[in-house]
Amino acid sequence: MGFSKSGYEALGVPAEEHPADLRPIPWDQLGDIPAKRDNGDLILQICSDSVYINEHVLRRIEEELGDRLRVVWTVSGAQRYTTRAGRTSKEEGRALIGFLDGTSNLRPRNSKEDEKLVFVDSERVGEYPQLPQPGMPNPYGGGAEPIFPSDLQPPPARESKWTKQATYMVVRASLIDTPRWDREQMDSQEHIVGRFKVSGASLDLADDPEMLHQEPAFAGNPANERVSIAAHVRKTNPRGPGDEQRRVFRRGYPLVQATTDGLQRGIVFICFARTISTQFEFMTRAWTNNENFPRPGSGKDLLRSFETVLCGGYFFVPPLETRNRPWTWMVP
Ligand code: HEM
Repeated sequence: MGFSKSGYEALGVPAEEHPADLRPIPWDQLGDIPAKRDNGDLILQICSDSVYINEHVLRRIEEELGDRLRVVWTVSGAQRYTTRAGRTSKEEGRALIGFLDGTSNLRPRNSKEDEKLVFVDSERVGEYPQLPQPGMPNPYGGGAEPIFPSDLQPPPARESKWTKQATYMVVRASLIDTPRWDREQMDSQEHIVGRFKVSGASLDLADDPEMLHQEPAFAGNPANERVSIAAHVRKTNPRGPGDEQRRVFRRGYPLVQATTDGLQRGIVFICFARTISTQFEFMTRAWTNNENFPRPGSGKDLLRSFETVLCGGYFFVPPLETRNRPWTWMVP
């Protein structure tokens, strides 16, 4: 559960206590034209083994809150699947585009450094990466320096004490034009993503499942462009100096929705991070959608042209009073 800016307002949380990096999702700045623009006040991510249970959870909440709650959008996804019993590992889970998804991600449970990038700590706000300054030599393989939008959101200057261990949540549900995707040759699909389709290895390494977790060659040598500078993985994580601070914890789902017009297919992109401005929003505005990154004329993330955005929002998941009791949210 998370609340948006308007959600915290509706709860009567004083303005000075609001999560400092929270605002309604700025669709225009993100370059998206969603089918539904409304951010909503409250996000519920309802997960279970059966859609029957999910239905009932929402039904109980709707019934309980009556006129105080109106559902503005819902999307349904499914966990990545293999025929092997048990949880689908990230070595096997594939997005609907057929590529392994989840290979390069934060691991907040296993790494203290990664945990710091996911959860808010008001004492660490001073460490957030600042907006890029012009006039620096291009660290992304030379050439003319990137041009960034002039109105990038600056990082928050402070966070209230109560936000410790809370996290920002961004949701963005989109459809993928799977018929067009499926007509692309495999080497073209690999060029778009920047990884080998079957092995999942970075396209600038050997096509070998053993290389799946190997850092891409461009990380050490940005002049190596076997992973295109517009490929999805390079646009979303260009691996320049300090860029590791901008990574997010992705927890998305393949989107599958039956409609009277046929099956909708896509992705419910969900990520968690200690900010929105220095992470998801920077990634989207300064990198993926920026035609002038990593150098003028580079073009947008090649995957973007297959997407149609449905809905989404910016939220803040409150901290828990007791870590292993995930219903003990604390809101001032
Ligand atoms: C059409 C929708 C999308 C699809 C099918 C998709 C699929 C993928 C795939 C296959 C990978 C490579 C495997 C991996 O490292 O997990 C990947 C990586 C990634 N994607 Fe997406 N993605 C989509 C949208 C987005 C969006 C909207 C964002 C955020 C702006 C995003 C952020 C990332 C990040 C940060 C990585 C890891 C890059 C790295 O560290 O190498 N993706 N995605």
